[in-house]
Amino acid sequence: MILCRKIDEVKNILKNLKKQCKSVGFVPTMGYIHEGHISLVKKALEENDVVIASIFVNPLQFGPNEDFAKYPRNEKRDLAILDSNNVDIVFLPENDEMYGNNFLTKIRVDKLSDVLCGKSRPGHFDGVCTVLSKLFHIIEPDRAYFGLKDYQQYIIVKKMVSDLNFNIKIVGLPIVRDDDGLAISSRNIYLSPENRKTALCLNKSFNIVENLLKNGILEPSIIKNKIKEYILGFKNTRVDYIEIVDTETLEPLNEFKENFLLALAVFIGNTRLIDNRIFSLKSYNC
Ligand code: PAJ
Repeated sequence: MILCRKIDEVKNILKNLKKQCKSVGFVPTMGYIHEGHISLVKKALEENDVVIASIFVNPLQFGPNEDFAKYPRNEKRDLAILDSNNVDIVFLPENDEMYGNNFLTKIRVDKLSDVLCGKSRPGHFDGVCTVLSKLFHIIEPDRAYFGLKDYQQYIIVKKMVSDLNFNIKIVGLPIVRDDDGLAISSRNIYLSPENRKTALCLNKSFNIVENLLKNGILEPSIIKNKIKEYILGFKNTRVDYIEIVDTETLEPLNEFKENFLLALAVFIGNTRLIDNRIFSLKSYNC
C-alpha cells in the first residue's frame, strides 16, 4: 500500500496509473476506520482497478463547539486495516497541505444543506463540499463511494457533482450495523456501556414505524410524535431532530409519498448520533 501525504505526490502516482488506463475508485474518510468504511472499500475494489482512500479530519466541517479536537484518530491502526483490506493508496494530508496558503474558497449546495443536519450544524455541508471538491480535483476518480448512513451528505454530494460537472460516479452503499442494530460510527466510542445500550433506541424506533404503518397509521406527524415519545422515554436522551422527508429533495412531508426517508439525530449523553431508513409504503400494503 502506498502512503502519500503530499498533493503533488498523489497526483503524480494517479497520473501514471491513468496513463495505463486504470480505473480509480475513491473512498474519502475522516479515519478511525471501521466496518462501514470497509464496506465502501470492498465495493470500490470490486468495481475499479485501483482503490484510493483518504484520511483527513476536515476542520471546515466542524462547528466551533463540536468535537474536531477530540475526534478519534489512530493513524497506525487505520493504515493496518486499510492495508489488510487491499487498499492500493492512502492519501493522508496534513491540514496545511489542504488549507495552507490563505485558503478562501467555499463550495455550497443551497437548500439541501439547510435542512436536517445542516440546520443543527450550520456550515457543516459547506465544509464537506469544499473538502470533497478539493479531493475530487486532486484524485480525479472514476467513482467515489459514500455510505447512506450519512444520507443527506450522499444527496448533497450527488447534486454538487452534477451541478459542477465533475466526471465522477457517486455510489451510495447501505448502512453497516453492529449485530444489535446500532449503525456503526467512529463516534460510537464516545458512548459509555449504558449509553451504548440506550443508543439502540435510534434503530429500534424504525420497528415502531413499521408497526404503525402496518396498522394503517399514515400521518407523518403522529409517527414523529410516537418516536419522540419513545426516545425521550430513555435516560440521557435529547432529540435534535426526527424528520420524515422526500428521499431526493429532503423536503419535509406532511403527507406520505410512496417512498420516504425517516431521519433521526439524537444526543445520547453528549454524543450526537444519526440514523435513517427509507420506507416504502408498498411493502406495508398501504
Ligand atoms: P466519515 O464519517 O469518516 O465517513 C466516511 C464514509 O463512510 C462516508 O461516506 C460515510 O457515510 C461512510 N460510513 C460511515 N459509517 C458508515 C456505516 N455505518 N455504514 C456505511 N457507511 C458508513 O463522512 C465523512 O467521513 C466526511 O464527511 C467526508 C465525506 C470524508 C468528508 O470529510
